[in-house]
Order: sequence, then structure tokens, then C-alpha cells
Amino acid sequence: MVDRNGWERGRSVPTGSPREPPEAFVEQANVTDEGIYEAFDEEWPNCWERAADLLSWDRSYGTVLEDDEPPHYRWFTGGRLNAAYNCIDRHLEAGRKTHAAIRWEGKQGERETYTYRDLYVAVNEFAAALRDLGVGEDDVVTLYLPMIPELPIAMLACARIGAPHSVVFAGLSADALATRMDAADSEYLVTCDGYYRRGDAFNQKSKVDNARLALEHDVETVVVDRLGDELPHVLGDDEWDYHDLREEFAGEEVEPVSRDAEDMLFLMYTSGTTGEPKGVVHTTGGYLAHVAWTSNAVLDVEAEDTYWCAADIGWITGHSYIVYGPLALGTTTVMYEGTPDYPDRDRLWEIVDRNAVDVFYTAPTAVRAFMKWGEEYPERHDLSSLRLLGSVGEPINPRAWEWYYEHIGDERCPIVDTWWQTETGAIMVSTLPGVDGMKPGVAGPGLPGIDVQVVDDDGDPVAPGQTGYLTVDRPWPGMARTLYDGDDRFRSEYWEQFSDPDGDDWTYFSGDAASIDEDGYVTVLGRVDDVINVSGRRLSTMEIEGAVTDADGVAEAAVVGRSSETAGTEIYAYVSTENDCDPDEDVRRAIEDAVESTIGEIAVPAEIVFTPELPKTRSGKILRRLLEDVANGEELGDTSALRNPEIVGEIQSESGAVD
Ligand code: PRX
Repeated sequence: MVDRNGWERGRSVPTGSPREPPEAFVEQANVTDEGIYEAFDEEWPNCWERAADLLSWDRSYGTVLEDDEPPHYRWFTGGRLNAAYNCIDRHLEAGRKTHAAIRWEGKQGERETYTYRDLYVAVNEFAAALRDLGVGEDDVVTLYLPMIPELPIAMLACARIGAPHSVVFAGLSADALATRMDAADSEYLVTCDGYYRRGDAFNQKSKVDNARLALEHDVETVVVDRLGDELPHVLGDDEWDYHDLREEFAGEEVEPVSRDAEDMLFLMYTSGTTGEPKGVVHTTGGYLAHVAWTSNAVLDVEAEDTYWCAADIGWITGHSYIVYGPLALGTTTVMYEGTPDYPDRDRLWEIVDRNAVDVFYTAPTAVRAFMKWGEEYPERHDLSSLRLLGSVGEPINPRAWEWYYEHIGDERCPIVDTWWQTETGAIMVSTLPGVDGMKPGVAGPGLPGIDVQVVDDDGDPVAPGQTGYLTVDRPWPGMARTLYDGDDRFRSEYWEQFSDPDGDDWTYFSGDAASIDEDGYVTVLGRVDDVINVSGRRLSTMEIEGAVTDADGVAEAAVVGRSSETAGTEIYAYVSTENDCDPDEDVRRAIEDAVESTIGEIAVPAEIVFTPELPKTRSGKILRRLLEDVANGEELGDTSALRNPEIVGEIQSESGAVD
């Protein structure tokens, strides 16, 4: 049923009683009611009205949940609203025009502040420009931009006119961009000339040109001039300069389009168990309600806060918790374009200090890097503005948790370890920082109203302390409604494994392994499918394998994850060459180039191990589990079922992986 690679290797599950959240925090927390879990259970599904109440509706909904077509649940049906109105206009009406909406910190030290009024102007002008280019309601607009203010501006401009956006992470390749645009039939693209990468001007536009060549349909393209004279660019057919368009539509206002709660707000492509990325569909009402509620209850965000989620908007974390959640609440959201160690390793702490950041949310990979660099960097800065810390994207090991708690939070700030996914839209598992005790390395219980279960192969709950599959039993507002590529794939990817459609019993399977303790706290152990999580970024081993195999000189390849202290997981590729040709530097480079050009730099293997053959079963199946054990220096079980057991020793000695 489900492939169990990975978690049986026995990542240890932390135990112990919860640590109470700091009292000073609890006194001011947004949610302090210990009865909230019970209240949500009793009122379910109407409990979610509390989330919907955080939004402004053009027309109120008739029904909280309609569940007559599982697993395609519908939330807040009959309701109408506009996401851009909720994230901007209503804050102006509340007299917050001059309140900062976005504080942008550029890679080269540039800084820009957009007040809610500035954001209103920019979004309206760009919405008018998009309309003029022909973008209509429900046309998918692809956004291929790095962390510059034009990215959230473009997202909100799309939302304003009811055009779903599909953001493609700027570091992905031309091929990846073309595949996503093709799959979404997207005829509009917003991109930039380039951006700075390690201090050098990097040409993004040439990737776009290649992607457009690969597409059969025309693409109206808007280009943001990020680099000025550093990288002169010439606009070709169907290409428009962003700043010229803004000027052309200066002062224009666009009435926000009233969208049905169930209308699509955006599409987000993510890696699945096959080579084809999945287009996850999120809707307007349920998604926005869920991200606003969790920003308030879990991240404890308030309108007066300066809040910083140090993720990239190219992934779901940035959509939900840099853009939609914090802006729906009218807070100030910090947006950082650069890396944590440029120009120096105290860059993030300098930003926290200068902006008096209240809430800071990042990935464990970053925390492990800070820990390696040492406490002298945070110690150089005043971090006393911080009130709460968050972690997302991977399991945080207890040692990193403790370091984060002590050296960044000064033991004053609770840590929320938030588990969720592109498909869940918003946070699902976490402690409520004003209510629950914390356990380092353990995410926490399912949030109020979220029915998280850890189950065995038969779908029965496992005993406390045992490992199993992380599933969700009841629907939730932020959930993906379907996959853009089709309902069948949606059902087979997430619902088939543990549901009993005949018995009208529907269970969502996350693809993660976990354990649950006596207190109902969940420890997430990692993926059990062919997805690997590299520094909090989700990649498909199948997709990488496809790219490696395409490289000149490669006969066969298997890609596995190797646990790593800093990155969480690293990519290891085991490769056999064509005609037994000598695996020289050329083949290695060809593999790296192939992966970079089909997916992007983030998917290039940390290690490429050449082997005359891959280990196979008698029926010819590559045994990836065994390679994963080899990469991780694990003891190998019985290899006698292999057709070529002698190869294992050879691979082990070739593999620099064995510690
Ligand atoms: O394996 C889990 C891991 O990230 C996966 C989801 O990846 P993505 O859709 O890219 O979304 C990342 C940001 C929400 C999950 O299946 N994951 C996410 N949060 C945690 C986590 N693993 C452990 N602990 C977490 N807090």
C-alpha cells in the first residue's frame, strides 16, 4: 500500500512532559482559552465560523461545510469575498493607510516600505494593467519572480481581478516553468530581467525566453526591471515592462471582483510521487479563513506586530504566512530577498533588531546553520523585540530546538513547531502557544477542529509511542479542493490509501510517518513516499531520476535521500554508465547540468556515486530501499533476494556516504 522507506530507520521520538510556555507570553497571547479544543469539537464544523469571522464577506455564506461529494469538500458555500480586498482595502477603511504592510529588505542592502495605501495603489495599477493585457476572471497567471515586492503585488493584483496565480519558484529551471505553464494552460507570465545571486547579476529572462520557446501557445509577458543597467534587456513581442505599465495605469482603481468562496484563489505546483508535478488547487474562502485564523492563533500575530516569515513566496509557506495570513490580519510583514549569511552571518539578526520584529518563523535547516555558526552572531544584536518563534518544513531536532529557544528566544519566546503541507494550505499540527506546553522535537497536537490520527497499515490508530502514517480524518477549510490535473489523481494521491468510499469513510493521507504520544502530541518523522525534503524544499526522487537518466552517458540511476545534520536530507544519486564508459568528470557535469536545467539548482545531487550496476531484484526492480540504507550507513539486511548481491559491497565502498 504505502512504501515504508525512510522512517523505519528509527529516528528517535523525543519523550517527556511538556514545558510550560513562558508566563509573560501567555498573559498577552491571542488564544488562552484551554477549553478551545473541546469547544471546537462540540461545535464542529461550525467552529470554523470563528475563522471566517476574521474576514470581510461581500455576501455571507449559507453553509459552513458541504460534504456531499467527498473528498471534494466545499466550505462557506454561498459566501462571496475578494482576497485582495481582505488583505488591503478593509485596512484602509479601518484608518490604517499609513501602517506598513510590507517591509522589504533587498539582497544588496536596499530597503523599501509599502504602507497599506502604497500597496493599494500598486495592486490597483497592476490589476488594471493585467486586465488591459487581456487577463480575465479565472485565467491562470504565472508568476516567476524572486523575493521582490512585485511578487506579492502581482499575487494580490491577480486576486483582485479573480485570476488565479500560479507562482513558480524563481530558482526552478526553464523546463520546469514551461511544464507548469503548459499544464495550467497559462497564457500570462510576470517575471523579471534578473536578480542577484551571490552578489552577481543572474539572468532570469534568458530562462524565460527558453521556456517560451518550448511552449506552443503565446504568452503575454510582463518583465520587472530588477537589475537596471546591470543587465540590459530588450523587450520582444508580447513583452511589457512592469514599470511602464504602472505608469500607464497610474492612479487607476479596479473594483475587487467578488468571488465565490469556492472559486480558485491560486494554484501551486508541488512534487508528488511521480515525475509530474501536481497542481494543488486552493480556493478563496476556506483558504483565507484558515491562514488568517492560524496566523492569529498559532503565530500569535496582531495588527500592530512586525512579523517575519523568512521563507520564499515561491513555496506554500510564503503564500500562506508571508502574504495572505499576515496581510489579512493587517500586520506588517517583512520580506527578505537575501540569504542568512550575506554579507555576514548576522544578517537576519540585524534585520530583526532594526525592524523590532515581534514574531519570527523559519525552517529547521536555517536553525541548524545558525547553531553551527555559533551564538556570537545573534549576540551582536538586540533581539528583545521577539515574542514568539516558529519552525516549519521539516522535523526540528531537539538540540536545534533548544538552541533556538535559548539563543534566539532568550527562553522568553515559545516555539511553535508547525506541521502542514502545500495540500493542507495552512497549519494543521502545532501547540497553541498561549495554551499548550511545548516538547522539543515534537510538533504538538492537531489544532482545534483538526482530527489528526496516526494509523497502521489497516488504518487503525497506533498505540502511543508506535510509528504509523499521519492522516487527517475530518475535512478542514484550507484543504486543497482537487488537483488541477484532475480529480482522479487527487483521489489516488491522497484519499485511496485509508478511505472506505463504500462506507462513506474518508481519510486524508499526508505521505508522512509520525508517532503520537499519551498527550496526543505528534512527532513527524518524515516522508514515506518518493518525496524528499531537502532543506525544507520538497522534491520528487522520480523527477530527479528522470533528469539524471537524461544526461549523456547515463544508463540507469536511482536517487535516494541521505539524512544530514544541516540539510535534513541530501540527495544521493547512484548511477551506472552507458557501455560501461568511464565515469569521468564529463558525465558528472552532464548529470549536474541535466538536473539543473530540468528542475533547478536545488535538486542537484550532493553526491553522485558511480557503480557498474544498480542492485536489483530477480524481476529487475531497482532496490532503492537498500541504496538508501547504504547512503545512510545503515546495517543492511538480507541481500540474498538480489539478482546481483555482489554489487552491494562495491557500492558501499564507492559510496563516500558511510560514516
Ligand atoms: O514531510 C512534511 C514536511 O514538509 C512536507 C510538506 O512540504 P511542503 O508541501 O513543501 O510544505 C512545506 C511547508 C509547510 C510534509 O509532508 N514538514 C512540514 N512541516 C513540518 C514537516 N515535517 C516535520 N515537522 C514539521 N513541522
